[in-house]
Amino acid sequence: MEIIIQPEAEAATAVAARLIRRLLLEKPAAVLGLATGGTPLRLYRALVAMKLDWRRVTTFNLDEYAGLPPEHPQSYHRFMWENLFRHVNLAKKNVHLPDGLAKDIPASCAEYERRIRAAGGIDLQVLGLGTDGHIGFNEPTSSLASRTRIKTLTPRTRRDNARYFGGETGVPHHVITMGIGTILEARTCLLLAFGAKKARAVAAAVEGPVTSLHPASMLQMHPEVKVCLDEPAAARLKKADYYRWVYAHKPAWQQF
Ligand code: GLP
Repeated sequence: MEIIIQPEAEAATAVAARLIRRLLLEKPAAVLGLATGGTPLRLYRALVAMKLDWRRVTTFNLDEYAGLPPEHPQSYHRFMWENLFRHVNLAKKNVHLPDGLAKDIPASCAEYERRIRAAGGIDLQVLGLGTDGHIGFNEPTSSLASRTRIKTLTPRTRRDNARYFGGETGVPHHVITMGIGTILEARTCLLLAFGAKKARAVAAAVEGPVTSLHPASMLQMHPEVKVCLDEPAAARLKKADYYRWVYAHKPAWQQF
């Protein structure tokens, strides 16, 4: 894991945006895995401002609420169109999100996995981090080998997301999410976490034991993970000084 600690979320986001820009310049038909939530909002704004060419890019989102139609204000379909897709020249046919309204959920999930494979796999997967360590919506005890499937949210995640639904009662209990196994197949994973409330989850993901009780810790099994943090999110990392030194002394050919 490469841990990149910046004084503020803005600067940490700028590093992440440069990584994605480099990928899109090197590989105009790149396949991006995308995330929702408050964390990647700045990233999407930064990418829009970069005016990159998205014509040949394909996207796959991590997750969607089960039972929410695409036009629902809190659906991840709506989130992505509002915050990124409608601002760039991405082809609608290249946009993929799990179908929250699928009648046959296992078949729809298998089809999602098939589409990822048919697109050549995900080059770079953007990830946020739940306070309970979830990535996508893979809640604690998700299997390392899990694929796209239906999951039940923990009470804690429902509480965390209540702010978007005007209270906890409106938050769905079920979601469709790529699995940990799906995420680990992305060629690069780019995890973003900002703010003091993520500090415990970050420390457990980066320096804790690999355990299904903290799904993000399974990223330690992946060969190419970048973690972009602001100082408050990095506050509980034991080796923070080492990570800062490493980043400040990267050889020129490794910089982005
Ligand atoms: C949500 C999403 C995750 C996201 C996480 C953190 O439940 N499914 O993909 O990373 O929670 O959200 P936020 O960035 O708003 O803190």
